[in-house]
Amino acid sequence: LADEEVSEDELLADPVEKVMEVGGTRHPAIRLPAELFTPERANSEGMDLDDAAVLTDIAAKVAAMPAMPAGIDVDVATAIAAAEAAYPSWSATPVEERADCLERLADLLEQHRAQLMAIAVQEAKKTIPDALAEVREAVDFCRYYAARARHDIQPVELPGPTGERNVLRYEGRGVWAAIAPWNFPLAIFLGQVVAAVVTGNTVVAKPAPQTPDIACYSINLARQAGIPAGAIQIVTGGGDVGQALLGDRRIVGTVFTGSVPTAKAIARNLLADDVRPLVPLIAETGGLNAMFVDSTALSEQVVRDVVISGFQSAGQRCSALRLLLLQEEIAEHTIDMLVGAMRELVVGDPANPANDIGPVIDKAAYDRLMAYRQSVADRIIFEVPVPAKGLYVPPTLVRLDSLDDLNTEWFGPIVHVATWPAGKLEETIAAVNAKGFGLTMGLHSRIARVSEAVEATARVGNLYINRSMIGAVVGSQPFGGEGLSGTGPKAGGPNYLHRFCAERTTSIDT
Ligand code: SER
Repeated sequence: LADEEVSEDELLADPVEKVMEVGGTRHPAIRLPAELFTPERANSEGMDLDDAAVLTDIAAKVAAMPAMPAGIDVDVATAIAAAEAAYPSWSATPVEERADCLERLADLLEQHRAQLMAIAVQEAKKTIPDALAEVREAVDFCRYYAARARHDIQPVELPGPTGERNVLRYEGRGVWAAIAPWNFPLAIFLGQVVAAVVTGNTVVAKPAPQTPDIACYSINLARQAGIPAGAIQIVTGGGDVGQALLGDRRIVGTVFTGSVPTAKAIARNLLADDVRPLVPLIAETGGLNAMFVDSTALSEQVVRDVVISGFQSAGQRCSALRLLLLQEEIAEHTIDMLVGAMRELVVGDPANPANDIGPVIDKAAYDRLMAYRQSVADRIIFEVPVPAKGLYVPPTLVRLDSLDDLNTEWFGPIVHVATWPAGKLEETIAAVNAKGFGLTMGLHSRIARVSEAVEATARVGNLYINRSMIGAVVGSQPFGGEGLSGTGPKAGGPNYLHRFCAERTTSIDT
């Protein structure tokens, strides 16, 4: 497709200015449906990271952080019993009151923003801009699900013959298990929890073992916001704690974000015994996310979006770019420009705002990524220098001779580059689809026909055209994939909350 001639009209029709405006970073304000949000509530305000006083304050908070207690020592059975005990009165609380609690929690998160950012920097090794985005997304989830619940979790009158009344109700199911990852230890953790409770469930939440402190801090805020202590239980620990939680027959549903093998183990576990009820599983896992670039793309924009998508957050996002697919004619030039941009990246202590990229989460991740890099050493095109000490994995560009050579998600700052011949775009997309993941995909092209063809061919939950492919915005870009990448419904989207509910219909012959 991309080798066809592009008319001037087509080029002019491309909204380049608009794309430049919105691409790259999170939108300054989230854009939410007007009927659900008043404008002043729709924007969880940003923080001025160009203000030296703000940065000094955060850095001081990071430095002053006491060694936080590593989680809470509650066993799983006790937590489930407490959540069960809290369920009857919480599920009977009107949805408006439950939504009020989420709104108050959003306010509290904003009031505690600097403290939460400091914990995210210290515990999750987030850079300061990433820590700010983390808090902002958590606030967005609270406000969005509060508004959606007021709107969506209401009885619906359905038609029937004269003399018959049919009503569909959305009610809590009982105690949910929520299992969160370390890479969004506040936003994803809290998004799962508040979705469960606003729909009338209680929840036992397990943060990742690497990031219990920010989770515990946020649950304290949830309690201050008026959610009864019993309604949100938190258990901390590793796989054994997760297994004990998910193996318990009192759990009525599981919301999970993490690896594919763990999602599959959870699914198997849910079906393992004949007595256990059938319960929902919402799972969001990983991706082998590709970005396609054709010869009409704007090189500067491509380079900026590759750097953001592949290397921001040290590539530790399930949405991150893993596979850059360049049309042959522009490959050499684009790689040269990309290497130039990578030379500007500064890797180091995430608490220092001068640094662009921090370390990876732990030694196990570091060892895994460094071993992989070693195995492809002869294909490394460029790597960014990193400090000698610390868990810093160099942002790396790796040449891929065949798409068959990449079937694993390497969860770090490693971008693979391959080429595709003009006229073979759809075939190449089909080869990427065939790998079985379906989370994010990117496209840079200025031809509307190409965008349409990619839209029709891509089998992904989130397709990003002429912009970066990370940082989905709650309410604007519902996030989640298909195939090996997850089961949906999408977080931050209009169909999420109903999945947490029991749907009950009453039919009355009046
Ligand atoms: N929601 C995140 C993003 O879009 C990934 O989990 O980058």
